[in-house]
Amino acid sequence: MSNKDGLVNTIITAVVLCLVCSTIVSITSIGLRERQAQNKALDKKKNVLMAAGLLDAAGAQKISEIFSERIETRIIDLATGEDVTSEYENPDEFDPEPLMMEREHRIDLSNDRDLAQIRQREVRAPMYVIKTSESDRTPAGYVFPVRGKGLWSTLRGFLAIDAELKNSIGITFYQHAETPGLGGEIEADYFRDAWKGAKIFDDKGSVVLKITKARVEENKNEIDSLSGATITSVGVERLVRFWMGADGFGPKLQNLRDSK
Ligand SMILES: Cc1cc2nc3c(=O)[nH]c(=O)nc-3n(C[C@H](O)[C@H](O)[C@H](O)COP(=O)(O)O)c2cc1C
Repeated sequence: MSNKDGLVNTIITAVVLCLVCSTIVSITSIGLRERQAQNKALDKKKNVLMAAGLLDAAGAQKISEIFSERIETRIIDLATGEDVTSEYENPDEFDPEPLMMEREHRIDLSNDRDLAQIRQREVRAPMYVIKTSESDRTPAGYVFPVRGKGLWSTLRGFLAIDAELKNSIGITFYQHAETPGLGGEIEADYFRDAWKGAKIFDDKGSVVLKITKARVEENKNEIDSLSGATITSVGVERLVRFWMGADGFGPKLQNLRDSK
């Protein structure tokens, strides 16, 4: 046996190979981090626009352009509904979830308040004002980030509400791990279409939306439950009730109603 095939050489070769491969993987991962962050931000913008009904598939490459023309990001203190956007240099980049690692940026939700089953919620959250046009800043509606537990996963999405603060304009989910064909149908066109014009609030501002198996056709506040995915459907109803209610954007919604 030549020295080349010896145990020491084999081990050295394996170690060098491992080092080279792990270095390549690390460099690639670090190199791609910025691009991944950019793509994530772009995907969020795309979903805000989709919920707002401002984006069809053909417009996908124009996301940033339409977003800056038609959307204004505001940062809201959820407990008071106060608009604190002026404290931020770049509100579009505000992402509350990573901040929640720190105590002062989150509140714990007791079981009776935790409709969306998220255990904690951020102190401040972004919301998005839909402008009527690039030059007309009159709100055409508002888009709210929402999240809550489905069957297997936390569903993250956006719910757009009309300027009258009554009906839904649309809903999107950009992150979840529900089963394709069952809970995963929250992304399907037929489910999303049902939200266009669905009644979310009554005249007093209470949430009346229901996702139900025995839907009554003329009730605009009822949306068909996904078949074979009742648990995900219930999760969607609960997350809407939570984020549109007193522990979510309720105080902000009340401020908007009072200022009308
Ligand atoms: C492999 C597997 C995956 C499932 N995925 C989901 C899901 O993503 N969402 C959901 O609500 N139910 C899912 N279910 C079904 C639930 O266990 C439950 O039966 C269902 O939510 C009840 O809905 P139904 O009353 O419409 O039948 C899954 C079941 C199985 C066996």
